[in-house]
Amino acid sequence: MSVRHFINLGEFDAQTLKDILKNAHALKAQKYNPPQLFKGLSLAMMFDKRSTRTRMSFEIAMKQLGGHSMILNKDDIQLGGSESLESTARVMSRFVDAIMLRLSNHDMMEQLAKHADIPVINGMTDISHPCQIMADMMTIEEKLGGLEGKKIAWFGDYNNVTQSFVDASTKFDFEFVAALPEDLHGNADKGCTITADATAAASNADVIVTDTWVSMGQEGKTLDKFWPYQVNADLMAQANDNAIFMHCMPIHEWEEVTEEVAKSPESVIFDEAENRLHAQKAILAWCLEEAGVEV
Ligand code: CP
Ligand code: NVA
Repeated sequence: MSVRHFINLGEFDAQTLKDILKNAHALKAQKYNPPQLFKGLSLAMMFDKRSTRTRMSFEIAMKQLGGHSMILNKDDIQLGGSESLESTARVMSRFVDAIMLRLSNHDMMEQLAKHADIPVINGMTDISHPCQIMADMMTIEEKLGGLEGKKIAWFGDYNNVTQSFVDASTKFDFEFVAALPEDLHGNADKGCTITADATAAASNADVIVTDTWVSMGQEGKTLDKFWPYQVNADLMAQANDNAIFMHCMPIHEWEEVTEEVAKSPESVIFDEAENRLHAQKAILAWCLEEAGVEV
């Protein structure tokens, strides 16, 4: 029996991801009458960084679908002491049915998954944030009717969220353009179009998206080079008439986006945040299918 981890979007076949999204829409439609898919099942969650949306959405997803979740504080469990990743993974596999982690070190997450007999879900590492991107894909489908052929333009830093957009672009067949300061171009995945020209990136875009210039753990960073990539009304005006503005949140007010844009009718940030809940349900359901969950 293979264990269904949800760690690297790039390793999935496109149809599986599309099926998960389809289920996310279906589960959203049952928002007030959620099927009790996770009855008797438990999720353990660990975070080595702060979280509002990821923590809440996973906890509520489990609860609404009849399951249970627990938060393991990294400073309280034995993992931070002398107990190894392997032992931790093997012991947790005997107690719960899935593990969701926010772990800065991506390799450590992979190691944990290697030793776990239950699904491990990536709640964000320093290099990727796949669950966020599933909610973003869902939001774009809702707002624009589909993903194929759409132009998604990213502005500012090249970070974990950017990487997951690039990973998703080949699965969902959209064009992804990242407008970044010149010195960050070397950090970018070769699979996406990179430019230093923010106006050109925004031109004819269907989605304008950004994220903080200071990801957690990068506090104290100099921001000067990012200001030409701030999402403001002038930049939004370059995009298609029905273009939407997205941000995974938390927003660093008002650096990477102006208050005017974040609170404009084009901004879908709160729908995007809500969709974390529905997407998590579908991701969990896919991961737990081997445990008997009907998808
Ligand atoms: N977007 C996101 O992952 O938010 P949190 O850090 O609040 O979980
Ligand atoms: N890039 C941000 C995303 C937060 C959800 C960070 O890593 O802090």
